[in-house]
Amino acid sequence: RAPEPATLVIFGATGDLARRKLLPAVFGLWQDGLLGSAFNIVGVGRQPMTDEEFKDYALAALKESKETDAILPGNLEKFRELLYYEYGDFSGDEVYDLVGRELDRAEEAHGGRKNALFYLSTPPSLFEPISSGLGRLGLADQSEGWRRIVIEKPFGRDLASARALNDAIHTVWDESQVYRIDHYLGKETVQNLMAIRFGNAIFEPLWNRGYVDHVQITAAEDLGLEGRAGYYEEAGVVRDMLQNHLMQLFALTAMEAPAAFDADAIRDEKVKVLRAVKEIPRGRVKSVAVRGQYGPGTMDGEKVPGYRQEPNVKPSSPTPTYVAVKLEVDNWRWQGVPFFLRTGKRLPKKVTEIAVVFKRPPLGIFPGGLERNVLAFRIQPDEGVSLKFSSKTPGQEMVLREVVMDFRYDAFGAQLESPYSRLLLDAMLGDATLFPREDEVDHAWQLVSGILEAWDGVSAPEFPNYTSGTWGPEAADELIGADRRWRRL
Ligand code: BG6
Repeated sequence: RAPEPATLVIFGATGDLARRKLLPAVFGLWQDGLLGSAFNIVGVGRQPMTDEEFKDYALAALKESKETDAILPGNLEKFRELLYYEYGDFSGDEVYDLVGRELDRAEEAHGGRKNALFYLSTPPSLFEPISSGLGRLGLADQSEGWRRIVIEKPFGRDLASARALNDAIHTVWDESQVYRIDHYLGKETVQNLMAIRFGNAIFEPLWNRGYVDHVQITAAEDLGLEGRAGYYEEAGVVRDMLQNHLMQLFALTAMEAPAAFDADAIRDEKVKVLRAVKEIPRGRVKSVAVRGQYGPGTMDGEKVPGYRQEPNVKPSSPTPTYVAVKLEVDNWRWQGVPFFLRTGKRLPKKVTEIAVVFKRPPLGIFPGGLERNVLAFRIQPDEGVSLKFSSKTPGQEMVLREVVMDFRYDAFGAQLESPYSRLLLDAMLGDATLFPREDEVDHAWQLVSGILEAWDGVSAPEFPNYTSGTWGPEAADELIGADRRWRRL
């Protein structure tokens, strides 16, 4: 699979994401020969820079980033030749005209085609102006080559703004040209969730209310704000992690088997299950959603500040950095099986996991209590899948203990590629399977907006309500209930 000759146009090319993730990902794909016979990159920004300055900048970024693959001799110099830069005011026409000329310039080398992938790696306030600017100058028109637009997160800040953004984008682009990126879908082990569910016969029969007690989805981060106050104060954990990454993990875990492994079949199933999630009961939001904010604490033996002490955060900021929710799915498969989702910053470690927790055996014939079996998908780090069950311990007595059967992804001996490489290549190839469709984003927002609005109507908890380096506020334990407990990861 190699894409047709094309130009990658990165808006926000001198921004943080482009420097840390996109340029290394593109370089890796190019170095591995995956970008086809002819390819070039046009960086676009508001900052004046010459082509030469941009080339220097991009090469420095590649050398600096931990995500860059080992650079083979001579390759930086060759990659340098592929880079160009344009700048201007994103609300005017001139900058898009310059981008159009870059596509004209590449036409001959690209076999007479003017294929282009426009990647919007900018603050969200620029998504709409750039999309319309490209439209005004005819750059979304596909008569001279395919044209696609990749849109970074956050896609809207609530249901109404996400809908408005979708509408604005659709005045220019057909949905088949739009690639909304959620980098969690590019992670190897997220894709492996589908492989394991639908490539094996032993799991699906158990994957329902008959056998599953509940499901836990955790995305814990040890990092704090990392200097992103400007963005995070506006977003908070619900928009930053829950609306996109966690809802996607939930949809892939809970959806029905698609009829085929293709973009629409999979996205149809995700939408179906998102639609089946019970609305958040306004009056009872406290029993289904818990928010938290980290206070000062100790991480790895070092003192760290609380959220409110981070640079540029308001001293009385109400922004949550932790959220746990209980989702109930109104369909036959999952009736009565709660899904608990939690994510937060400054938790004890970085770990993302999906755990399917099974019901206890119906009758205990051995001494001691009965444990629940757990099938856990470790998304990161130590990617793999484990099954926890009870076994007899050696000796005269019939004493049972929990043991773990473990599959580790590193058994394949391959280094896992960055999610951005996978997603960029898919977008170049025109494969939208791993990109959320308009209706998915809409349904995820409906659920999440429900939580945000319900919170507006009730008094907020006293913040901070968890210490950095602990597993979040106590109220999260009440949420999961007395008979269940959060996984200790
Ligand atoms: C991003 C969020 O989308 O995902 C960050 O904006 C978060 O706040 C990051 O840290 C986590 O991604 P990963 O791949 O490191 O788990």
